[in-house]
Amino acid sequence: MDLQSILDLHPKEKRIGSGGLGDVYLMPNGNVVKVIKIAPLGGSRTLKRRVISEEGYQRIAKGMQGQNYFGEEAALRLQWATREGEVGRELQGEPNIIEVLGYQGVMAYNGLYAEVLMKKACGASLDSHLNGTFKGKDWASYPLEERAHVAREIIRAVKAGHNRGVIHGDIKPHNIFYDSSSKKVTVLDLGCARKVKNGWKNPPSREIEDFMNANLSSETRAYGTPAYIAPEQALGVVTMSGDIFSTGIVAYEVFTGDDAFVTKGKLGAEIVRERITYNYKDRKKLLDAAAPYYLPPAVISGLSHTLDPRVEARTFCLLEQACDKILDAKENKPALIYSISENSESYL
Ligand SMILES: Nc1ncnc2c1ncn2[C@@H]1O[C@H](COP(=O)(O)OP(=O)(O)O)[C@@H](O)[C@H]1O
Ligand SMILES: [Mg+2]
Repeated sequence: MDLQSILDLHPKEKRIGSGGLGDVYLMPNGNVVKVIKIAPLGGSRTLKRRVISEEGYQRIAKGMQGQNYFGEEAALRLQWATREGEVGRELQGEPNIIEVLGYQGVMAYNGLYAEVLMKKACGASLDSHLNGTFKGKDWASYPLEERAHVAREIIRAVKAGHNRGVIHGDIKPHNIFYDSSSKKVTVLDLGCARKVKNGWKNPPSREIEDFMNANLSSETRAYGTPAYIAPEQALGVVTMSGDIFSTGIVAYEVFTGDDAFVTKGKLGAEIVRERITYNYKDRKKLLDAAAPYYLPPAVISGLSHTLDPRVEARTFCLLEQACDKILDAKENKPALIYSISENSESYL
């Protein structure tokens, strides 16, 4: 089946997710489509849904860049949608990254839309696992090995992207799916992703975004999510180390069940301001003092490295190695050596 025939009208009742950019629908064949509204077409015109040719799409994209005739917001949305499709294509075959099957422009109802077709991720969002809404199961009851596995798979996904020269730009639990039965971890949402020229092995070329292009207070979407954003990314500098920092925050939550930074009840702008002026040494002190008893020192050290704003690729590996160590120990010692829930004295 080609993309056009798969992507027919999207019945509202099959909506399985929504985010800053648009809605996500489950298709009858089990795939998923993200529908991003680019711009209204004006008037109350109702059009029969029509797929725009690749050429037409490119023409619109160019026109938007050049003349901005749909406005700045529409140009940004088109850029995100195109990026998501193109980066997705680039990352095909990575086991921990969502498989993007294609993208296209569509005229429908009264607007211009972009549709990104993907495979459905297995499981539920890591966010729902962490906050206990997934089948009411408390994250505290997940054994340490399982947490180490989840953290390691996220690290692997981020590294795989970096190896192919892609910065994800919005690593957070809502954009990660975890299937507790198959243990599969999938990173989704490539809407903030961008390509860099150098891969993981070379020092990342710092891509300075035109910070004035978007208004951070109203549209943080272009730059990630305040609670997970790295300090330099909050200032508009998107780097691989920003992804590592965000992964560090996620890993902290995965390992401890707590937030790495107090962000609840705060406005996005406030969180961003705090993040920019964030003092790594204070954070480290807090981490040392508050780290749960069951966390192996290597994990604490790995976390404190990834939460350092000067984080580098090689420090990221420390956390990965710490996860490996826990998982190796599990393979060699089948007992509950690292179990959190069953025995408070189990980490010896
Ligand atoms: N491939 C997918 N499989 C399953 N659920 C998905 C998939 N893509 C998106 N979703 C769901 O839709 C939500 C929004 O999608 P996302 O790509 O994160 O969009 P946004 O850029 O708007 O945040 C996700 O948090 C997730 O719950
Ligand atoms: Mg998202």
